[in-house]
Amino acid sequence: MTDVVQLEAELTAAIAAAANERALEDVRVAALGKKGSIAELLKTLGSMTPDERKANGPKFNGLRDRIQDAIAARKKALEDLVLDARLQSERVDVTLPAQDAPRGTVHPVSQVKDELIAIFADLDFKVAEGPDVETDDYNFTKLNIPPEHPARQMHDTFYLKPQADGSVPLLRTHTSPVQVRTMLAQKPPIRIIAPGRTYRRDSDATHSPMFHQVEGLVIDDETHLGHLKWVLEEFLKAFFEVPKVGMRLRPSYFPFTEPSVEVDVQCDRSGGQIKFGEGTDWLEIAGAGMVHPRVLEMCGIDPNAYQGYAFGLGIDRLAMLKYGIPDLRPFFDSDIRWLKHFGFSALDIPALDGGLSR
Ligand code: FA5
Repeated sequence: MTDVVQLEAELTAAIAAAANERALEDVRVAALGKKGSIAELLKTLGSMTPDERKANGPKFNGLRDRIQDAIAARKKALEDLVLDARLQSERVDVTLPAQDAPRGTVHPVSQVKDELIAIFADLDFKVAEGPDVETDDYNFTKLNIPPEHPARQMHDTFYLKPQADGSVPLLRTHTSPVQVRTMLAQKPPIRIIAPGRTYRRDSDATHSPMFHQVEGLVIDDETHLGHLKWVLEEFLKAFFEVPKVGMRLRPSYFPFTEPSVEVDVQCDRSGGQIKFGEGTDWLEIAGAGMVHPRVLEMCGIDPNAYQGYAFGLGIDRLAMLKYGIPDLRPFFDSDIRWLKHFGFSALDIPALDGGLSR
């Protein structure tokens, strides 16, 4: 009869000597396969007397279990060796400077968005968000623009497919629905900005069908129009990195603010160029005003206890003015030469302490 101790020693040595998974599999088949040495050993139990079986059964089964465990442990060790070798061969030194890597740039709109978030964060505003696809209710009705209101025509809205319930979703025409969402979700005091994409059927040098706005909303029990003017002035000074800005507020009309103003910035637009801080031209950059009491009411805020202001700044227009880009249509042409010329380094993260646009 095969000596169990000797067989175990031989198999253990063969397992340890298996240099790869294939060799190990050969050892496994030779020991545990149908005709393997351990399988043959187990078969002999059938022809033994009950006493012999009682004595040898545990020995043979124990041998099988130990060999199975040894094979599993060797398999794991071989896999670890393969992984280690692969990690070594695929090692990358991430501290080496990129040489032939393609160099992308940050789009001026993204740069301006980051800049204005940094400035408004310094003025204690939090960032809020809303979806691009909006309901009619949030984009219009709760902003005091009911279905029959003529102001709906001013927005040149892109409507989407009607839903089963009869509602018609739309691409938001401004960031003002984020005001509604914020007021419905939280109680005053509120102090947020909401940058994002907006959409209108509009296209010329200063209008694009997809453009960007940043909404501002402040609601508490004391804020007035003077605070709005101060915040806009502080924002513009920090944004254009100048001690003084030429800014004017023109009386205007928005159904969701009363009184309402439009905000213009002084510039020079002669000779196909645009220059901030010079000349006698004005570029409109924002609509603003005191939030209409009816809007507060529709959003669940008591207009007798609370008041505040809102504004909507055109981000693309701010980028045009700051970086001297006279036409905003190329913003979205994806022309690599334009992007290289006007784009920013991905490592220049705007921050107030080091200068916004170094
Ligand atoms: C509005 O969209 C109001 N929701 C702004 C507002 C918010 C008023 C809160 C009161 C309170 P208006 O349509 O004027 O207003 O647009 C605001 C700014 O977005 C404009 O001053 C302009 O800078 C920019 N803008 C508007 N249409 C376009 C366009 N098609 N392309 C690029 N910028 C645009």
